[in-house]
Amino acid sequence: MLHGEEHSRPGRPRVRRALRTVHRRLREVRMFARAMVSPHHPILAQIVPIRRCNLACTYCNEFDAFSPPVPLAEMQKRLNRLAALGTTIITISGGEPMLHPDLDEIIRYIRRHGILATLITNGYLLTAERIRALNRAGLDYLQISIDNLSPDETSKKSLKVLDRKLELLAEHAEFAVTVNSVLGSPVRNPQDARTIALRARALGLTSTVGILHDGSGQLQSLASEHLNIYRELLQPRQAMFSFAQYDRFQENISQGLPNHWHCRAGGRFLYICEDGLVHYCSQQRGRPGIPLERYTREDLERHAALEKPCAPYCTVSCVHQTAMLDAIRQNPRQVLLEMVAAREQRDPGYRPPALVHALTWMFLDGPAKRVLSKVALRLLRARS
Ligand SMILES: C[S@@+](CC[C@H](N)C(=O)[O-])C[C@H]1O[C@@H](n2cnc3c(N)ncnc32)[C@H](O)[C@@H]1O
Ligand code: SF4
Ligand code: SF4
Repeated sequence: MLHGEEHSRPGRPRVRRALRTVHRRLREVRMFARAMVSPHHPILAQIVPIRRCNLACTYCNEFDAFSPPVPLAEMQKRLNRLAALGTTIITISGGEPMLHPDLDEIIRYIRRHGILATLITNGYLLTAERIRALNRAGLDYLQISIDNLSPDETSKKSLKVLDRKLELLAEHAEFAVTVNSVLGSPVRNPQDARTIALRARALGLTSTVGILHDGSGQLQSLASEHLNIYRELLQPRQAMFSFAQYDRFQENISQGLPNHWHCRAGGRFLYICEDGLVHYCSQQRGRPGIPLERYTREDLERHAALEKPCAPYCTVSCVHQTAMLDAIRQNPRQVLLEMVAAREQRDPGYRPPALVHALTWMFLDGPAKRVLSKVALRLLRARS
């Protein structure tokens, strides 16, 4: 059985890392509080600074072998626009974002806007010096993808190649690190995901697991061996949104069942491609396909409200998570209590994270708490 608590990470400087963690957690609480009081701003935007990749995973439709990086000035314009729309988290993805020559400046620019900066990478280009540069730029979260123990024709994102990178991250990173593995039919040895998760957690890093989707973001049914490992790895985690991760979405997905939810992509979640167009997500490109510079608050509201036919079998978990925040906003008492009860049932030793305690305190019960919660939101400067 795996446990999600972060082990103490080796190396220095621990104090600096601890201070950065506290600061990041406070900004996360603020992000959450804003999502609670304002229903329309984008909670999370994924942005592609370069479509090119140095690998060619066979399950992936998000890369090419030739595209140039988006110029820094153009990236800054797009980031300004996302900030003006009120975006609270920006994830830099790709292609392989570490191929962008101005990645550190892009991260710095996101942070200058007061936005949480996260990065998804295949990790091949990480070195101690690059990690220290990402610290200096102010990166908040990094997700490194590792799919198997040894490279095969599906994926070269292997523990064999990337274990040294994990050690470097454990030693030098001041930002939070999550190791993500995907499960699904092209992955030859699903039990590799367990070994990768154990290794990550032994190094004090967080681990997550995702389910492979087809070319339109839809679930590909999981064989029983994959399913068992997926369930086993759905354990408490410390990543962003950890309070929202153990819900019915994942249970249904793991069983191949549809979810009844409202996808607010195009509003609460945006995917900005290398051409600066807004799409619902990486798997629904072309919808709506409007240039970001012309994307308005009305567009946010309109597209968030539209029913998406791809929703029932969607596996795009970051969009599920933003939807979870809206479910909490609309019915905080019921959703928070249900989430905690469901977790306690699965894991009798479960103790809700401090954030859930704070939220329960802020959003539940009694007139005195209502007044205090208003004061807390003011202090967090969370009004939109
Ligand atoms: C498109 S990659 C871009 C960032 C970077 N190149 C990487 O691999 O981490 C972002 C994430 O999407 C995941 N991904 C790509 N194709 C997928 C698919 N068909 N199903 C599920 N996840 C997928 C990758 O494993 C990775 O974690
Ligand atoms: S490394 Fe990332 S972007 Fe490149 S092919 Fe693999 S999943 Fe796609
Ligand atoms: S339901 Fe939403 S997130 Fe999922 S594939 Fe469709 S548009 Fe993308």
